[in-house]
Amino acid sequence: MQSTGHERIIILDFGSQYTQLIARRVREAGVYCEILPFSVSTEEIQSRKPRGLIFSGGPSSVYDDAAPRPNPDLLESADCPVLGICYGLQLIAHGLGGEVQPSNSREYGYARLKVVDATSRLFAGLPKEMDVWMSHGDRVTTLPEGFRMTAETTDAVNAFENPARGIYGLQFHPEVAHTPLGAQILRNFLFNICGCKGDWTPAAAIAEQIERIKERLGENGQAVCGLSGGVDSSVAAALVHRAVGGRQTCLFINNGLLREDEFESTLALLKQKLELNIQGIDASQRFLDALKDIVDPETKRKRIGALFIEVFEEEANRIGGVGFLVQGTLYPDVIESVSVRGPSATIKSHHNVGGLPEKMNLKLIEPLRELFKDEVRLIGKELGVPNEILERHPFPGPGLAVRILGDVTEERLRILRAADRILDEELRRAGLYGFVWQAFAVLLPISTVGVMGDERTYERVIAIRAVTSVDGMTADWARLPHDLLARISTRVVSEVKGVNRVVYDISSKPPSTIEWE
Ligand code: XMP
Repeated sequence: MQSTGHERIIILDFGSQYTQLIARRVREAGVYCEILPFSVSTEEIQSRKPRGLIFSGGPSSVYDDAAPRPNPDLLESADCPVLGICYGLQLIAHGLGGEVQPSNSREYGYARLKVVDATSRLFAGLPKEMDVWMSHGDRVTTLPEGFRMTAETTDAVNAFENPARGIYGLQFHPEVAHTPLGAQILRNFLFNICGCKGDWTPAAAIAEQIERIKERLGENGQAVCGLSGGVDSSVAAALVHRAVGGRQTCLFINNGLLREDEFESTLALLKQKLELNIQGIDASQRFLDALKDIVDPETKRKRIGALFIEVFEEEANRIGGVGFLVQGTLYPDVIESVSVRGPSATIKSHHNVGGLPEKMNLKLIEPLRELFKDEVRLIGKELGVPNEILERHPFPGPGLAVRILGDVTEERLRILRAADRILDEELRRAGLYGFVWQAFAVLLPISTVGVMGDERTYERVIAIRAVTSVDGMTADWARLPHDLLARISTRVVSEVKGVNRVVYDISSKPPSTIEWE
């Protein structure tokens, strides 16, 4: 990753569930940062000239045999300030000769922090007492030589520092929203201690990316972009369009598995608002043929993926002279490949279009690979990407095929689309579309008995799934108001022919997944 010229903070990942949040907070403060695995070499870190290093938390104890540890010479040779958070603080204490011991019980939840050293620059401008969020097993009982305690909770060390060596530690998590003043503490580290000015903004990222894209495509380079109508691919396409205009052709493939009217309306929206050079390709019949009689979810996914590549390849060849492929890969996709599991973990950078680059020998352009989803939304807004797209719920590549349990037929697609549209309409009408991460209908492969008018019916069941989530990795079922659910149910049963029952999915992820297949 080469974001040249910016002040840079490096976050070493020791496996905390909050590592990405630390990066978010640093970026929100206007400072560019990168997450690297804990095992990265000292030379690699130094070559990036960071203004500061942050050690993340992590689930291990410093006494575990397999505990992740940074290179032993790192603290000695780092020529920038270091901040250890939670496990990061314990590593520093243990590594420099202090003592870390298991707590009597795991400390988890809110704690009241007392700042005991008014001269600490980390706590400058903050009250003497504040709420903080703790999540740890071990604690520091003896400080390393030359260090002083700067804050405590119930008589235990909670923050320490050695300003002369530029080393700081926090037992609590300043990056989480449950530590209300945590962002200010991190800002103190960035600005008061590392001397950052805050030179990174989404607008600066746009200008920088446009320059880079122009450089890579040169005078005559041609690119293709696979558009799905989602946030990531639309913003990536808009950015490349700013840089090289019509030399990018966007391919929007209708696989017949999109929501009602989605192909036509998204195509029109993107053409009109962004003036993109888009080709809409209606391959729906080919996809439906490929899915005939297929029931197994993984087989469905594989067939759809393979056919997508086939259609995409045909179109790219038809255009001719294409050397580049634009993808909307985001930073969370990238760091998954350099996480605490180490660089040997599967690299996922091609996940967006299932391996197209190797097959087609195209060079990748990934203008969003340094950004988080909310930053992408901000950039999209600046580029004029319509809100309808920026605020859209995520939609899986295999589309409605994984929401029709059993084989996919035209008739089942009709039922599902109609139910899905009602859900979407009612959710928006209730002002709750933005409150949920995803909401959709699922067509179950069973029929149940009902009674309509004076007649007994034996028809299909629609399940409604609505979840709240931050990143799709974990999710909870959305507590939608009962009267909204009642309206959805009544409308689905009365308006969608072939359905006589609606159920609401009350499972969280884990142990369930968001999609049913
Ligand atoms: P699960 O069902 O795994 O979904 O909890 C997590 C998120 O990923 C989306 N999803 C997919 N996206 N291809 C995609 O592009 C897929 O095969 C796929 N399966 C699930 C899902 O909609 C949710 O946002």
